[in-house]
Amino acid sequence: MNAVSPIVKAASRAAGLDLRGVTKSFGSVDVLHGIDLSIAGGEFVVFVGPSGCGKSTLLRLIAGLEEVSAGAITIGGRDVTDLDPSRRGIAMVFQSYALYPHMSVAGNMGFGLKMAGRPAAEIAATIHAAADILHLTPLLDRRPGQLSGGQRQRVAIGRAIVRDPDVFLFDEPLSNLDAELRVEMRIEIARLHRKLGNTMIYVTHDQTEAMTLADTIVVLRAGRIEQVGAPARLYDDPDNLFVAGFIGSPKMNVLPARRVAGGVEIGGHVLAAPPLASAPPDGPAIQLGIRPEHLRPARSGEPSLPFTIEVTEFLGGTTWLYGKVAGDIPLVIEGLRGSTPVAGTRLAVTADPADMRLFDQAGTRLR
Ligand SMILES: Nc1ncnc2c1ncn2[C@@H]1O[C@H](COP(=O)(O)OP(=O)(O)OP(=O)(O)O)[C@@H](O)[C@H]1O
Ligand SMILES: [Mg+2]
Repeated sequence: MNAVSPIVKAASRAAGLDLRGVTKSFGSVDVLHGIDLSIAGGEFVVFVGPSGCGKSTLLRLIAGLEEVSAGAITIGGRDVTDLDPSRRGIAMVFQSYALYPHMSVAGNMGFGLKMAGRPAAEIAATIHAAADILHLTPLLDRRPGQLSGGQRQRVAIGRAIVRDPDVFLFDEPLSNLDAELRVEMRIEIARLHRKLGNTMIYVTHDQTEAMTLADTIVVLRAGRIEQVGAPARLYDDPDNLFVAGFIGSPKMNVLPARRVAGGVEIGGHVLAAPPLASAPPDGPAIQLGIRPEHLRPARSGEPSLPFTIEVTEFLGGTTWLYGKVAGDIPLVIEGLRGSTPVAGTRLAVTADPADMRLFDQAGTRLR
């Protein structure tokens, strides 16, 4: 691929987006409740959240495939709220590739340009540049039926690339692929973003995709934004238990606990805990969050929790130890490489205060 390709964007040309009070109702069903979000030009933003929380709807509002019920959408400084989808400078890639089966790969990729009446030489050059980026050059004459799932999805992405959009929108583009291909295509998409420099908005259920692709993750729940931030920020510093539980696998452990002098008490055992700027609003009962990798065997004499291993999962590089702590509170800890204790083993475990996250009874972070 040469540096003068017409479809590689200078980062300065990548369009930012601004959503203000974006609201959507279908009849009497309110799906999005006033979304405010700013996306910088060239940023890779991932929407995550449970099924039905409004991810696809938000993407379709940005694309113009649905009309907002209230609010405004700006792309590249231009108010596009009432603009036709074809004039918004966006291209969308869906979960189903929806390729024309009777057309070649080149035909599929160039179809939109042909309909737009672009000259044949320009269409051919654009198709070749996109095929080069996506490693589709040897496949340009094949039909979709003669391609693997991953190759078909690359054609669908190629069809978006040739339109030279300011913003790419992806709605679970990899969810029809098997696990190995997903990983391959995930890396391809990261490469594509680096190469093109466009703004990309990506919806996924797959939190590994979210963590690895995103500059910024937007966690949605029931039509509202729960938290926006870099993957590491959401992982280390979640605003609430919903975000804490959504990012990371296995999930953050959550233990019922009480604030006591000198720390937190879990089932009668007291551990040192991080200081709080203010007392919990609803009394001493709190929820204590600790990631599996932050639990470790206690040194002798150190305050600890008694942990009994029930199940071990050896995954090669990592071992997960599942069991009960301080009675029958479920807990998972990351085992040490080189030692795989068997079920029934009892361990005294603890965590450093800096690795503990405290939440109130409603799940809101206490700071
Ligand atoms: N055209 C429509 N008419 C009525 N309700 C709709 C319509 N489209 C979406 N909804 C509702 O809006 C809510 C959000 O749907 P949306 O497709 O945005 O969810 P999602 O987060 O993309 O979910 P998933 O992860 O399952 O794809 C759902 O409750 C859905 O039933
Ligand atoms: Mg969806």
